Amino acid sequence: MKKIGILTSGGDAPGMNAAIRAIVRSSLNKKFNVIGFKNGYDGLIDNKFVNFDRRSVGNIIQHGGSILYTSRSLRFLEEKYRLIAAKNLDKIDIDSLVVIGGEGSARGAKELAKDTKIKVVCIPATIDKDMPLVGKTIGFDTAINTALNAIDKIRDTATTSNVTHIVEVMGRNCGWLAILAGIGAGAEAALIPESKADVDILSKRVINQLKSGKKGCILIVAEGSHLNGNVLAEKLKEKRILDIRITSLGHIQRGGNPSAADRVLASELGYAAVKSVINNTNNVILAKPLDKIKEIPLNKLKTTPNKIDKSLYNLINILA
Ligand code: F6P
Repeated sequence: MKKIGILTSGGDAPGMNAAIRAIVRSSLNKKFNVIGFKNGYDGLIDNKFVNFDRRSVGNIIQHGGSILYTSRSLRFLEEKYRLIAAKNLDKIDIDSLVVIGGEGSARGAKELAKDTKIKVVCIPATIDKDMPLVGKTIGFDTAINTALNAIDKIRDTATTSNVTHIVEVMGRNCGWLAILAGIGAGAEAALIPESKADVDILSKRVINQLKSGKKGCILIVAEGSHLNGNVLAEKLKEKRILDIRITSLGHIQRGGNPSAADRVLASELGYAAVKSVINNTNNVILAKPLDKIKEIPLNKLKTTPNKIDKSLYNLINILA
């Protein structure tokens, strides 16, 4: 019988609880023991864990945050603390550790795998979607929807009062959140860390939009961009765009009930993590990369049955 540990680490992301639920229930279905470490990697160092049963993950799929809490453990960056964590893990005799978190958490998992005989499986969870190869990350979809919800409200007042609004979104050094929020909100422009915006061009565009009859503009600024909201506002004022307001959405984007997409992704990845544990897989991160757009001949639509995903259908009962 296997014993699995779970932890959530780094910035929390909506859907982490859904992933915990899926791992716990899938483990218990196989009669494995499953425990949860509290406060991310700090919980490994301090040996703080809880035993899970089926009911302890009841009624959590719909909640943001993490019932295991998280940390950005500074101690875990130091080898001496990682060795303490590894020793603790070896003592309580677990086979595999499932780490739910973002890029920094995956780096921590890779380091840990060097110091212990325990196998490590990661599940990508971050609102930033800033992990190469991985594609979708748990929490990203919810964060965009949360941002859109707020920006739609800003749009109402921007249009009514004919004011230019700068909206700062999160994303660390990655522009994904700003890009999708920008498309979804119908923003006039987005500033992202990956591309330096030309303020001359941007201001001309805003002025032309306003001249053409548009009422109010929305400019999205990702947090890692070369200009923050205040600096951009100053620069636009120099170009005679005078009526500007700034809203920073901040941690609102990290909270709230996970979207359908995040609950499903978290459930799938949590279930897959236990499969990886069964296969004794080590040092991996599970991924479900985004599909690309394809051209499909129309006549194929007629002849191809629209199959449901049976494995997703079965997941309802497996995790119930
Ligand atoms: O990684 C998620 C994230 O919300 C980033 O978008 C942001 O840069 C960072 O975490 C904020 O971290 P903290 O909550 O520790 O201030």
